[in-house]
Amino acid sequence: MKICCIGAGYVGGPTMAMIAKQCPDIQVTVVDLNQTRIDAWNSDDLPVYEPGLDEVVQEARGRNLTFSTKVDEAIAAADMIFISVNTPTKTFGMGAGRAANLEFIEKCARQIARVSSGHKIVVEKSTLPVRTAEAVKRILSSSGNGATFDVLSNPEFLAEGTAVEDLLKPDRVLIGGESQEAIDKLCDVYAKWIPRDRILTTNLWSSELSKLTANAFLAQRVSSINAISALCEATGADVDEVARAIGTDSRIGPKFLKASVGFGGSCFQKDILNLVYLCEHFGLREVAAYWEQVVSMNDYQKQRFTERIVKTMFNTVSDKKIAIWGYAFKKDTNDTRESAAIYICRDLIRERARVVIHDPRVSEGQIRATLTEACTDMQGNISDLDKRLIAENVSVAKDCYEASKGAHAVAVMTEWDAFKELDFTQIYDSMQQPAFVFDGRNLLDRCQLEKIGFEIHAIGKS
Ligand code: NAD
Ligand code: UGA
Repeated sequence: MKICCIGAGYVGGPTMAMIAKQCPDIQVTVVDLNQTRIDAWNSDDLPVYEPGLDEVVQEARGRNLTFSTKVDEAIAAADMIFISVNTPTKTFGMGAGRAANLEFIEKCARQIARVSSGHKIVVEKSTLPVRTAEAVKRILSSSGNGATFDVLSNPEFLAEGTAVEDLLKPDRVLIGGESQEAIDKLCDVYAKWIPRDRILTTNLWSSELSKLTANAFLAQRVSSINAISALCEATGADVDEVARAIGTDSRIGPKFLKASVGFGGSCFQKDILNLVYLCEHFGLREVAAYWEQVVSMNDYQKQRFTERIVKTMFNTVSDKKIAIWGYAFKKDTNDTRESAAIYICRDLIRERARVVIHDPRVSEGQIRATLTEACTDMQGNISDLDKRLIAENVSVAKDCYEASKGAHAVAVMTEWDAFKELDFTQIYDSMQQPAFVFDGRNLLDRCQLEKIGFEIHAIGKS
């Protein structure tokens, strides 16, 4: 059996590496248009940072795992083709800011139709609006070479930072389809290492919709606890204590109740907005408004954090140095897409603060590029002032000590474990007084820091 995966990103790369590792008898080729990305997958410095991923790739690469830019060739040779390309929020035209941009999916389907012959199984791995498979099937049926296709939906549920563990022991694998034979073929691949009772099968539309729904429910939990964090700050309740108290109710459960500076990542916001757009499309205005509030609450949480910094620091951060610890959207990843840190830093420099950022996995180039993007409007314009602020008021430090030296405040944006193990007395002595800490992740030991002399402000704690 030969598998081809189009898209060597955060999903395509790790997912296919795991299939190749667990199924040595299957030839897996991951293709992408981006030569730099493919070169990185073929090097010792993988484009995706994930604990344990290097070992998985090393085991299979060169044996039955190949990374290549020869897209046509890989499609033509494959029995099963996964589409794992990006499906970002549309930034132009109808549905801009909400609908998913399906341009890349459609291009893949057309390319598969063009170069295929015989029978192939096409698997939707990307997260897609419900009923996308209908369009994919129609495009595929236009194949001029007499090729035939079965289309399956097999959404991915891995989380970044724990991708290897999630792929190795998923809570479930979901496969939606019409042809039992095609479903069985994909089941057989996963069954090499995943118990059969964890492989769920549904119809195509349920599978497509379950992915959007899972992300909406997960994000909703974060927004719910973040909403409560605002009330905790106003009343003297402690959000971690509230989370523990409600999380022990087995119907609620303890996971995904960590209050934070706001959820980030490439998917939660995009998938909820996509769900909102779909509901509006089907005339379900109340349902759309319900889900949209999850995103609004997240925006409020980010904005509230910046406001708290400014208000606490005597209503001005102008010309003050603020150390930003962490820039990735969560720990153990180098991904910064939609990271709360981007928006907090943008708003702080617009208040004329000087931010000094340290993240163990994010480069200076990536930091400047994401800030520039966050200051750019839908028409592609960025003001001269924002450009100047990014150039002059943003710098990048090699570690937290360097970032905090001479700073008026520290803001914790990402919950990297290493941030808990620092010499806080040394940091305190090197900072301006009063030394403020704004802990956007409730990561640090409040008692320890207060004993040293820090003034600490954490999420959901007064
Ligand atoms: P990504 O941007 O990291 O990777 C997508 C890749 O597809 C890019 O490298 C791009 O160059 C390539 N590509 C686009 N069009 C192509 C084409 N026509 N031919 C060849 N290559 C092409 O995206 P990602 O984070 O891997 O996400 C992919 C999909 O998986 C999205 O739909 C996303 O919603 C979903 N998803 C992501 C995650 C996650 O943790 N990132 C988890 C579950 C699901
Ligand atoms: C999320 C889902 O967890 C995956 O199941 C899904 O496959 C993926 O989106 C996707 O479709 O892309 P991911 O975004 O990688 O995974 O990471 P999460 O662990 O879900 O965290 C998302 C954001 O929520 C992060 O910024 C995280 O810090 C934040 N978060 C999470 C909280 O603030 N509190 C929590 O309790 C949990």
